[in-house]
Amino acid sequence: MPQREAKSDLASSGGARGGQMALDAAQASPTPAIAATARIVARLKHLPGPLLPVLHEVQHELGCIPAEAVQTIAEALNLSRAEVHGVITFYPHFRSEPAARHTLEVCRAEACQAMGGDHLAAHAQATLGCGFHASSADGNFTLEPVYCLGLCAQSPAVMIDGHPHARVTADKLDRLLTRTLEAKP
Ligand code: FES
Repeated sequence: MPQREAKSDLASSGGARGGQMALDAAQASPTPAIAATARIVARLKHLPGPLLPVLHEVQHELGCIPAEAVQTIAEALNLSRAEVHGVITFYPHFRSEPAARHTLEVCRAEACQAMGGDHLAAHAQATLGCGFHASSADGNFTLEPVYCLGLCAQSPAVMIDGHPHARVTADKLDRLLTRTLEAKP
């Protein structure tokens, strides 16, 4: 897939060129996100294709990849901000904002769509008051699309905090969300 290959090439070439001065300055930054990102880059920049491992680690440690981290990563790996941003937006896994307390993933793949997945997705958006790749205003749920959970024979399916649920109707989704909040507000 040409686009994927292009992103991968970017990730590989950035680490090879390095940006040690920018990295040294960033590690001393008083901004915690910048300092943490710089430490991660310093640790991983020598990997082949360091950009993706760095992005994964930054999101793992910070909960998202904030704008200041993008700047730090770009400078340290000698990439442009647009190049780093392009990789972040290419992969749905990466996020620029912290996730809510819980994550609802609604399957948007074909088998689920054929069994009412569009209606379920619309219900989820209306219930949470947000679109995909966003969070409800109360900070309870982040809504994400997912493309097949392996439950095609029992579609439509969703996943809440990593737990899959099959044959989900709008009513069942409401009950699942309520139960999730009751178990862990
Ligand atoms: S298409 Fe939705 S679980 Fe496979």
